[in-house]
Amino acid sequence: MRIAIPKGRLQDRALGVFAAAGFDVPDDFSSRKLVFNTGGVEWIFVKDCDVPVYVEHGAADAGIAGLDQILEHECTAYQPLEFDFGRCRMMLIAAPGAPPLATIATKYPRITRQYLDGRGLRAEIVPLGGSVELAAVLSLTSHVIDLVETGETVRVHKLEMQDLVAEISPRLIVGKNVYRTKPREMRELIARIEDTKNASLQSQLP
Ligand code: PRP
Repeated sequence: MRIAIPKGRLQDRALGVFAAAGFDVPDDFSSRKLVFNTGGVEWIFVKDCDVPVYVEHGAADAGIAGLDQILEHECTAYQPLEFDFGRCRMMLIAAPGAPPLATIATKYPRITRQYLDGRGLRAEIVPLGGSVELAAVLSLTSHVIDLVETGETVRVHKLEMQDLVAEISPRLIVGKNVYRTKPREMRELIARIEDTKNASLQSQLP
């Protein structure tokens, strides 16, 4: 079985999910290796935006991906489990002084297009690779669509949150094809993770 782990913010918590479910997960990242074989699983480490791509195309059987990346890539993989960690909101955010909506900088051009079309709004989309809020601060664009987790980035740049685009959470994703070809293995994977999720919920009860 091959599992895609998102590098970056979600990496440790994604590995924690599998470790809690009894998987022998890799723990030595001192080399530049991107593929690890432990406990009968091949773990691949890819950028968070690429997890849905690997799973969609069957190059990984399963992975953990944020709903933002799942939606942006129109990934059709199953999403059997949603996690409580790493939750955030995708927001429409305005530059200081809240100018009229004219241009939107974002790492999510497809979601932004759907957001605009869904509301009958018109604006030019300016795709960026990161630090998106800066576009509004420097008047590159009137607005941005980006993730808000703690709200700190919006606060320190004195930006204004204007509308909720989507509630975002990380999910376990499982490829549709592999679910057909290896149903027993995939169901067992989902059940193992679900059991540890339920056990951790039980332990939080008073
Ligand atoms: C994310 C997101 C926001 C920021 C929000 O960026 O795109 O910029 O975090 O977090 P906050 O509400 O807790 O301040 P990330 O740090 O992943 O880097 P990036 O901007 O380069 O994508």
